[in-house]
Amino acid sequence: MGSSLCVSIFLVLSIFIQSSAHGQSLGLEPFRRRSRDVETKKTLQKTETKFLLFERESDKGCQIQLHQPDTLQECGFNSSLPLVMLIHGWSMDGLLEDWIWTMADALKSQLAQPVNVGLADWLTLAQNHYAIAVRNTRLVGQEVAALLQWLEESAQFSRSNVHLIGYSLGAHVSGFAGSFIGGKQKIGRITGLDAAGPLFEGTSPSDRLSPDDANFVDSIHTFTREHMGLSVGIKQPIAHYDFYPNGGAYQPGCHLLELYKYIAKHGLNAITQTIKCAHERSVHLFIDSLQQADLQNTGYMCSDMDTFSQGLCLSCKKGRCNTLGYHIRQEWHSKKSKKLFLVTRAQSPFKVYHYQFKIQFLNQMEKPVEPTFSMSLLGTKDEVQKIPITLGEGITSNKTYSLLITLDIDIGELVMIKFKWENSAVWANVWNTVQTIIPWGRGPLYSGLILKSIRVKAAETQQRITFCLENMDDLQLHPTQEKTFVRCGINSKKLKQKVR
Ligand SMILES: *[C@@H]1O[C@H](CO)[C@@H](O)[C@H](O)[C@H]1NC(C)=O
Ligand SMILES: *[C@@H]1O[C@H](CO)[C@@H](O)[C@H](O)[C@H]1NC(C)=O
Repeated sequence: MGSSLCVSIFLVLSIFIQSSAHGQSLGLEPFRRRSRDVETKKTLQKTETKFLLFERESDKGCQIQLHQPDTLQECGFNSSLPLVMLIHGWSMDGLLEDWIWTMADALKSQLAQPVNVGLADWLTLAQNHYAIAVRNTRLVGQEVAALLQWLEESAQFSRSNVHLIGYSLGAHVSGFAGSFIGGKQKIGRITGLDAAGPLFEGTSPSDRLSPDDANFVDSIHTFTREHMGLSVGIKQPIAHYDFYPNGGAYQPGCHLLELYKYIAKHGLNAITQTIKCAHERSVHLFIDSLQQADLQNTGYMCSDMDTFSQGLCLSCKKGRCNTLGYHIRQEWHSKKSKKLFLVTRAQSPFKVYHYQFKIQFLNQMEKPVEPTFSMSLLGTKDEVQKIPITLGEGITSNKTYSLLITLDIDIGELVMIKFKWENSAVWANVWNTVQTIIPWGRGPLYSGLILKSIRVKAAETQQRITFCLENMDDLQLHPTQEKTFVRCGINSKKLKQKVR
């Protein structure tokens, strides 16, 4: 990552930090107050938050007012349908961000089951020093809770039919709404989209979005790269299912190399735009889940991205995988958060196809060798040529190498692998030396690398296939040589046919 990234992250985080310092002098209240407030807030007459409903696509919203049932009718609220309410985050310019309209449209137009779509517009409270905006999240949470309680009382609308989708600080607003709402029942679902990190990371569950806040809580983490002990998005798990696309720290396509050019052209606002790229990616992944019905992303439970990158976490057994976004399977078995990982493309459609390749070599050479390979994959629908493969440390005998390969396209069922020891002048020379020092006519026939089979697991189908060397008469892999592997079963069948 370039230094420009550090510069811009530093700039935004300094804003966070400065405003936190500022906030402290303004007397940031200790964050611990709950049920008592709820009783008093029940009588809330008016909200500072503006609640809007979108009746149809491309609608700019119709305002509903607490305790004014007429406004519900005027705005087309249908109490027999669920309510999805969007909650924005911290605002520097006091304007609603574009994603809100895109997501509202997608919710209105893409769902088989129609929903009421609303927005909690708390811009007047969000456009502030960061620390003040943070403090306001509690107030807005209370107001959302008050609205939902009123809907329950006046329109018999159950809170279990409510889905709050909060971005950045909005995620914690949703959490507070969940904890401030009185009564035994919980809000149906809360989705946190890159929930804000500063002043929330490491706090107790009641002081941020947590799995306690709704019947089901899911969260997507996209900008958790740490700088000076802070990250824009929260790092720790805060939901039943926490998705970390590409590891969650940073996102592909959010390159900041162009930053200086961009600033020259667009002024300092460009900084916030570039920062937004990874932060807001969480939102676009969620929108993608609505717009790309056939290209749903799956996340797989894993301890960290390193392990995931070795292809070791592609299991779906016992709820170990789930769908990212709107169509997530809403089930959970314990309060403990599940961390799910996945790789995505840099733009929509974000989906990639994940594979684990397990490769075991027999190395007949004395020293470990460090060649680079490439693989070409042929599937029933499509093919991908020459995926470069480096196995890191040198190849030693009988060690199994596990790696994650992701493809942007769906190649269908994998039917053939071409495995090539890539051309390298150095290796070709070494090989010649090896050849010449091996006396003729002595000992084992092979003196190089042998690769008999490749085991593959396709994550999206959970299918495991073993591929065998097509021509078993020639086992050795030489530099610049390519070997073809086919499905073992098919291979042996063909062999049997030949034998008969
Ligand atoms: C509310 O939604 C239900 C279910 O889709 C539908 O049958 C009904 O007509 C809607 N009511 C109004 C007033 O649109
Ligand atoms: C690797 O495995 C083969 C056969 O399974 C065995 O003969 C050989 O001794 C093993 N080599 C090492 C270094 O363990």
